[in-house]
Order: sequence, then C-alpha cells, then structure tokens
Amino acid sequence: MKILITGSNGLLGQKIVKQLTKRGIDFLATSKGENRNPDCDETKYASMDICSESDILSVFNSYLPTHIIHTAAITNVDACELNPKDCVEVNVEATLKLFNTAKSIRAHFQLLSTDFIFDGQKGNYKEEDQPNPLSEYAKSKVDAEKIVLTDGYSNFSIVRTIIVYGFGNNLSRTNIVCWAKDALSKGDPMNIIDDQFRAPTWADDLAWACIRICELEKVGIYHISGPETMSIFEIVQRVALHFGLSTTTLNRTDSSTLNQPAKRPPKTGFDLSKARLDLGYNPKSLEQTLDLL
Ligand SMILES: NC(=O)c1ccc[n+]([C@@H]2O[C@H](COP(=O)([O-])OP(=O)(O)OC[C@H]3O[C@@H](n4cnc5c(N)ncnc54)[C@H](OP(=O)(O)O)[C@@H]3O)[C@@H](O)[C@H]2O)c1
Repeated sequence: MKILITGSNGLLGQKIVKQLTKRGIDFLATSKGENRNPDCDETKYASMDICSESDILSVFNSYLPTHIIHTAAITNVDACELNPKDCVEVNVEATLKLFNTAKSIRAHFQLLSTDFIFDGQKGNYKEEDQPNPLSEYAKSKVDAEKIVLTDGYSNFSIVRTIIVYGFGNNLSRTNIVCWAKDALSKGDPMNIIDDQFRAPTWADDLAWACIRICELEKVGIYHISGPETMSIFEIVQRVALHFGLSTTTLNRTDSSTLNQPAKRPPKTGFDLSKARLDLGYNPKSLEQTLDLL
C-alpha cells in the first residue's frame, strides 16, 4: 500500500500519519502550505492545495498512491454557512478533482463524511439511512458523497464520523474534549447545550478504522464513531468528573440561546454493527481515552 493523505495538518490527518509511521506503512502526507505536524517527517510531506489541479497532478504523478484518504475539508460548520462558495469549492469541487485523479490511476478513494448529513430526528443512524442535510456544510458533504457513489467506480469508501476529539499539533481549530478540559481547568464560565446528542469519536480510533478499510480493501459506506451517544453537556460533565475538575462554572443551556448561523441535527449517533463485523472496530469509551489524548 502507498497511502496519500489529504489534510495531514488536521486532527485526523495527524493521527493517520502517527499510526502509519509506527507501522512502517508507506505514505505521503499532504496539506495546504507548510507541514505543521512536527511528528511528520519532512521527507514524507508535500504541500498540496486540493483546490489546485496542478498541485494534485504533480503530487499524484510523482508519488503514485494506491490509496487516498481524503480528510481535507472546511470543517467549521458556521464558516460554511456564511461562505457557501468557499465551502463548495473545497468540500465538493476539490473532492471531484481528487476523485477523478484517483480513478485515472485506479487507486482506492476514501472520503471522510459526517453525521450532519442526517436531520437528527431519529438517531442511531445506519449506513443505508437517508440523508437530509440541514446546513451548507452538510449539503457539501452529501454532494461530495454523491460524486463517489454515483460514478460507478467501485474502488472507494466513505467514512462518516461524529465530533472527533484528541490532541494534535498546531491545529487550526480545537475540539470539544480538549477545549472543555482547558476551560474547566481555568474555571472559565461555560454555557453548554444539553439538547444536542452526539457520539464523540476518539481521533485515534477513527484513524485506525480508515487504515483498516484500506488494508482489507473494503468498499462502500462505514459509520465510525465512539460507542456512546450523549448530550454535549454530558460530554463536558464526564470530562470534568474524570479529571476531578469543578463543574460550578458549567451552565446548562439549549441550542436556541447560541444563535449559531448553521442549523445542527438534534440527535445523531451511529449504529456501529457493520464496522464491528467487517473491520473488527471496537472503539474505546470516552473515559478510556481521556488519559491517552
Ligand atoms: N472534526 C469533526 O468533528 C468531524 C466530524 C464529522 C466529520 N468530520 C470530517 O472528518 C474529516 C477530518 O476532520 P478533522 O477533524 O481532521 O478536520 P480538521 O482538523 O479541520 O482538518 C482538516 C484539514 O484540511 C485542511 N484543508 C482545508 N482546506 C484545504 C485545502 N484547500 N487544501 C488542502 N488542505 C486543506 C485544513 O488545513 P488548515 O489546518 O491549514 O486549515 C486542515 O488541516 C473532515 O473531512 C471532516 O469534514 C470531522
């Protein structure tokens, strides 16, 4: 296997790089601009803006990957709502460019997608449940999935996941668990919603599943998340309890008070049966991961 990763400066990209390095699997890490991950050897990194056809062609032609793990995206949901053109350019149009290039060299194309493609009325979603996106970000991911699903090219996978957490180097954004731990430690006042339910996903478990799908040459859609669905308030509360931090600064609130530009699905969470059966996926509980971040 020769795995090309897009978005390697991001949280998931960094975890994939870490696991591939440890296991001695051949890879090329790519992201926009400089390598910001000190754990990624410079000889294993190439700058690649996924919106640039010439960047893609020159990197693919010199590396010739057998597998592409496409993690790069605009992942800030509200930024996508406010700048839908940028969102479509990066999340949809660049995916099409990468997919076509992967196809031209018969490489496996793996797309990262999201629980936000669902409207959040049902929860515990299965791979075959029908998407009903509520935001520009969610629509962009549905459109990216369609590129892959409707082409007829059979060497692909789609990995949908849910709020991903873990520690990374020089990340451009934080994640719920690291942010909560930090804010709780400082005693910052926090308004936390208890009317949205998610299955928080440890980035290392997700990275493992992405690589496993490539290794086993699996095809199709996989739901990959943490094992338990809980409210955002409960996530923060459990982080506090685990680290023995005070919850007196925590204020329980609901989504209507946040005035966020993008609509969010109230309740997601995944049925993990397919991933458990096909991949041997066995994600850790929130508490099992908190000392490993
Ligand atoms: N994080 C979550 O909670 C979550 C939930 C569901 C699905 N997902 C999906 O999982 C994937 C990975 O998420 P993540 O948490 O690792 O996100 P992340 O930390 O935001 O990483 C995304 C990476 O993509 C890079 N990128 C953005 N535009 C690019 C471009 N034009 N060319 C090359 N690279 C570009 C970003 O670069 P900069 O660092 O320079 O900005 C960033 O490093 C994404 O596709 C996301 O949609 C994530």
